[in-house]
Amino acid sequence: MTERPRLLPLLGPAGHAGRDAMTCLYRCGNACEHPIPNVSSNPSLGEVVSRRGLLAGTAAAAGGALVLSSAVAAEPAAAAVDPRAMMPLKPGRPAGALTFKPIPPNKLDTLVVPNGYDSAVVMRWGDPVVPGAPGLDVDRLTPARQSKQFGYNNDFVGVLPIGNGGRRALLVVNHEYTNEELMFPGFTSLDAMTVEQIEVAMAAHGLSVVEIERVGDTGQWRRAERGSLPYNRRITALATRFDLTGPAAGSAPLRTAADPRGRTVIGTLNNCSGGVTPWGTVLSGEENFNQYFVGGDGVPEALKPSLARYGVSTTARYPSGSRKWERAQERFDLARHPNEANRFGWIVEVDPFEPLAKPRKHTALGRLKHEGANVIVAGSGHVVAYMGDDERFDYLYKFVSAKRYRSGDRRHNLTLLESGTLYVAKLTGDSPAAEIDGTGKLPSDGAFDGTGQWIKLVSGEQSFVPDMTAAEVLTFTRLAGDAVGATKMDRPEDVQPSLRTGKIYAAMTNNTNRGVGTNPGVDEANPRNNNKHGHIFEITEDGGDHTGTTFTWALPIVCGDPADPSTYFAGFDKTKVSPISCPDNVAFDSAGNLWISTDGNALGSNDGLFATPIEGAGKGHLRQFLTVPLGAETCGPFVTGDDRSVFVAVQHPGEITGASQANPASTWPDGDFAKPAVVVTWRPDGGPAGS
Ligand code: FEO
Ligand code: CA
Ligand code: CA
Ligand code: CA
Repeated sequence: MTERPRLLPLLGPAGHAGRDAMTCLYRCGNACEHPIPNVSSNPSLGEVVSRRGLLAGTAAAAGGALVLSSAVAAEPAAAAVDPRAMMPLKPGRPAGALTFKPIPPNKLDTLVVPNGYDSAVVMRWGDPVVPGAPGLDVDRLTPARQSKQFGYNNDFVGVLPIGNGGRRALLVVNHEYTNEELMFPGFTSLDAMTVEQIEVAMAAHGLSVVEIERVGDTGQWRRAERGSLPYNRRITALATRFDLTGPAAGSAPLRTAADPRGRTVIGTLNNCSGGVTPWGTVLSGEENFNQYFVGGDGVPEALKPSLARYGVSTTARYPSGSRKWERAQERFDLARHPNEANRFGWIVEVDPFEPLAKPRKHTALGRLKHEGANVIVAGSGHVVAYMGDDERFDYLYKFVSAKRYRSGDRRHNLTLLESGTLYVAKLTGDSPAAEIDGTGKLPSDGAFDGTGQWIKLVSGEQSFVPDMTAAEVLTFTRLAGDAVGATKMDRPEDVQPSLRTGKIYAAMTNNTNRGVGTNPGVDEANPRNNNKHGHIFEITEDGGDHTGTTFTWALPIVCGDPADPSTYFAGFDKTKVSPISCPDNVAFDSAGNLWISTDGNALGSNDGLFATPIEGAGKGHLRQFLTVPLGAETCGPFVTGDDRSVFVAVQHPGEITGASQANPASTWPDGDFAKPAVVVTWRPDGGPAGS
């Protein structure tokens, strides 16, 4: 980028945990103002109380018995692709060493990258996706135009190669939510939005699939312009139809007046992070879906506990942060359509290589506020997906497929996430509880670490939770986790296995309610009270078996200012590491270095992207690779298999209270008003990212 860094003075009032108040309103519907949804006492298995009363009403409301799903037939694709093997390294190119000079924390309204790197926008809000689509014109925002253009607030980024040439790829991106105050000229309030404007917002949610091409022989990529671009596609909250698969598909809680069979859902909501599968599809997590619904006060009493457990207000018709979508589509009014909310909160699988294939919501992976899902093929051939439920005091999960991965058999592999076993994590620290004092001081054994169990919740159509059917466990998974005594975590965000070591890394972004008031106190896995800066959680499956039920865990990084004694960087010299706050998304380069992006930096800097070795002598030597502009969080990230390109999604730039298009808090990336965009960074000299 060549624009000059600008310092803009407009800083809004603080929201929660260092976030701007506008972020709190638009992103999660002021979730932190609402009661913590997990009020369970997590009884042990022997003490489980009957939740039959909680759940019985759901079936009654939809008026029928459980109907089990048959598998959805997926279209065969032309070629099997392992996207994570893309773009082989050039012979002789060294890889792996992280030697870049870290950038300092800053509050600049630009994308800052290390010396020796360049960066460019790949796609921004409103850019044409479907061939022939118009470009952005904020005076002509219509649902039809937006449905062909790049959506708003890009989060997950996947780059899947087309063929083996390393020159073309599919960019697959989530669009989590919208900032109406920054999208629409003259915006005054969500209440004043026209129905057409609401439909624009609905069309700006979802996913984009965009064919991209390498620029020359560099690490830069841009939207491909030549050819028919058959893969380019928008998936929206407005109109795209999804098939439900797995044991809960067709069950009573998923049936509505518009879909009495409970098998087809219109739209996807609040798609946050995700993952790329070895068979060349993308998984996308439906996260804060609760904020799109009103009327929770008007549902039958029996349904209220299961709605409340997912953060849907059951006491107010219009909870704070509600987006008023019921004015465009009445299904968002739960008083009229009480089961509609049950049709969101799933892991979505999109096949970007089959533009006509319906995306699917896989009920076998449970219903949470899914951050994302990342899979690894176990030694046995079973596919294992690791997942986090992003809410204060919620849980970590894994799914093990019933069937085995077959290399090259894409049609078969497309069915792997339709049936399997779902587990939730229960953790035990190995240090005396008295040594976990809430300050972050390491216990006497020198580590926050311990052992864990994967507790089986459901396998195929068999439930292992008393008084819940398999379909109920999958649809009300949080209640199932409560019942078996899962460990309450500090907001589990991205969870991803390293394909190099098999260890799994999860970002616990923060939890300023830990140990505060009557909320749960610290444990060894969540060892700081008022956890403002979060930590990284590492899982090592016993015997390296991803299908097993026992593991060990440790916290290699406890985030914050390295000068703060409560921080820990795997024992590395803290005078040499960058400050980091609120880890959100994780990724790996080909050498196995861990890349971490942040959301909600509570240290006074813009959010950014960091990299650290996670094995060997350099473990914990964390350096800051980039920062994003004012008001933005850093999403993605994605390091290509040849290590030459690092993609990040710059989400909600300029999201600062009081900002508008006419009075922008950020003018990135074009100098006029803020637009979310996906960016690629690379070394112009051709060297690998991180060096
Ligand atoms: Fe959308 Fe969990 O962040
Ligand atoms: Ca310990
Ligand atoms: Ca996230
Ligand atoms: Ca986030």
